[in-house]
Amino acid sequence: MKTTTFEEYQTAYQKSVDDPEVFWAGIAGHFQWRRPWEKVLDWNFTEPKVEWFKGAKLNITENALDRHLAERGDQPAIIWEPNEPDDAAVTITYSQLHRRVCQFANVMKKLGVKKGDRVCIYLPMVPELAIAVLACARIGAIHSVVFGGFSARSIADRINDAGCTLVITSDGAFRGQKVIPMKETVDDALERCSTVKNVIVMTRTRTPVSMLKGRDHWWEEEVKYVDADCPAEEMDAEDVLFILYTSGSTGKPKGVVHTCGGYMVYATYTFANVFQYEPGEVHFCTADIGWITGHSYIVYGPLCYGATSLMFEGIPTYPDAGRFWEIIEKHKVNILYTAPTAIRSLMSFGLEYVKDHDLSSLTKLGSVGEPINEEAWNWYKHNIGHDKTPLVDTWWQTETGGMMITAIAGVTPEKPTYATLPLPGVQPVLVDEAGQEIKGNGVSGNLCIRFPWPGMLRTTWGDHERCRQTYFSTYPGMYFTGDGCLRDEDGMYRITGRVDDVINVSGHRIGTAEVENAINMHLGVVESAVVGYPHDIKGQGIYAYIITENKPDDPDMMRKDIAATVTRVIGPIARPDKVQFVTGLPKTRSGKIMRRILRKVAEGETSNLGDTSTLLDPAVVEEIKEGAL
Ligand code: PRX
Repeated sequence: MKTTTFEEYQTAYQKSVDDPEVFWAGIAGHFQWRRPWEKVLDWNFTEPKVEWFKGAKLNITENALDRHLAERGDQPAIIWEPNEPDDAAVTITYSQLHRRVCQFANVMKKLGVKKGDRVCIYLPMVPELAIAVLACARIGAIHSVVFGGFSARSIADRINDAGCTLVITSDGAFRGQKVIPMKETVDDALERCSTVKNVIVMTRTRTPVSMLKGRDHWWEEEVKYVDADCPAEEMDAEDVLFILYTSGSTGKPKGVVHTCGGYMVYATYTFANVFQYEPGEVHFCTADIGWITGHSYIVYGPLCYGATSLMFEGIPTYPDAGRFWEIIEKHKVNILYTAPTAIRSLMSFGLEYVKDHDLSSLTKLGSVGEPINEEAWNWYKHNIGHDKTPLVDTWWQTETGGMMITAIAGVTPEKPTYATLPLPGVQPVLVDEAGQEIKGNGVSGNLCIRFPWPGMLRTTWGDHERCRQTYFSTYPGMYFTGDGCLRDEDGMYRITGRVDDVINVSGHRIGTAEVENAINMHLGVVESAVVGYPHDIKGQGIYAYIITENKPDDPDMMRKDIAATVTRVIGPIARPDKVQFVTGLPKTRSGKIMRRILRKVAEGETSNLGDTSTLLDPAVVEEIKEGAL
């Protein structure tokens, strides 16, 4: 599956463009299928309809677990590092993981969960999270993992959108010094949900929780009464594997749908190839399984490739800013895959936290989630990789299922701040506002992909039209990523950030409309507009302009109250960093907010705001400029 020289990469890339079906059939041949496909690819980007490996039958867990048993049953599949450094780490071998997944799958079956049912998983970063995900896949239930930082309301919206019948959660979660209630949040969410019949609760913090008779069940109790034999459900390649909710520029988060066959092939292929994974290496992806990075590069990619995946429960700064480096030393980590925001944050603590740790086990470094600035790139490469470890900046999205534009570690060239070259099978296009392709090098435009790849989203749950509108209507015949991009003289790609109303805060995607809706729910708020601004650590911060009914008596208190409202409605990740109270917003005569102006002010660039003559009331701009934070 790997391309190990630049020439091999070039050959593979050419083949993937000239004859994509042959190329992908070759990659898919490395997996275990119960029945082969009838057709490799059927597609059009108008409906859109994308079908890979149609007619093939498989179960992804047979690829992630069963097929490794004979050869590497005793090899660690998951190494789990708990929040407290003094608590014992846990190693789960492939045979142990297989057993625990089957057992838990039987628990779900006993509760009546069947193929196609939706299961919401709201758990901290404990092995049970990976087990729950795989157990769903085992029986063909569709998992919808909700990141542990989301509020009750966000959980409820996701449960209701997908019609989940089961929720899997824990009593609480440890994150650094904090103990976070999980079951209580689920209980609050379930006040709004009518489809949920059962809740399974695993014990982590021993936080007291209410357990409703007939609905709530303890994980540890239930697994006692089932056996560990659970034949895998036979799935069609195009059956849904999971839903993962993500924010866009409008409306509520949408449920991105991935299917069994194509996603498996793509997540595994990209994992193996980009990191040039060697047997026995320990792979540490610091993302949470609540995001796509964790789905593809903690669970499915590594396990389908028979790798050892390290899962970390805590945060990079607990008990101090040396925690990642300590984990790397302790578990002899070979591959570190993390986000620019973590690097920038750890950088700010200085080298003293790095210098006493032996990082010589590292063979490859990766970055994901947001553009990486040059300073962070160099710091990572120099101080963590000691200038000898390849560093890959991987650009991709929830919708793409796996990495798309990235260097291949040690195989293709690197360039600081550049995602560099497309992987085999990925055909990027830059287009201008009019939808015309911008050819040649030394150009920039909006990033689209012109041909399907196996890991791409198939639809948005329950609303195919929304999928078409969001991704396939802006530039007909192409998948639109929402990102701006430049291609340099050498044909290398650099992602410049979102061109829509999405903000990337610490690598988390947040829709401005969502934050505005949450702010507008607060008493006394008349209207709000939210934009992103450059933030030293988070990449982007959230800047909110808010019109209130009356001038706030105590603006700081009001800011805190608004933050509390946003936390309650969405979760702490969406809290505004800056709140400016204003009496008006710059609107055009047709009532549209001119966000361009708000963005410039938030960025501190007030000298050149461009043409403001079409504004209904140009005077508001002066007020906004004067009050800028
Ligand atoms: O703007 C891009 C940015 O993150 C967005 C995707 O966010 P999400 O679906 O949450 O997935 C994040 C993890 C894959 C993209 O549209 N992004 C992601 N990786 C990079 C990036 N921007 C620049 N460079 C990257 N390496």
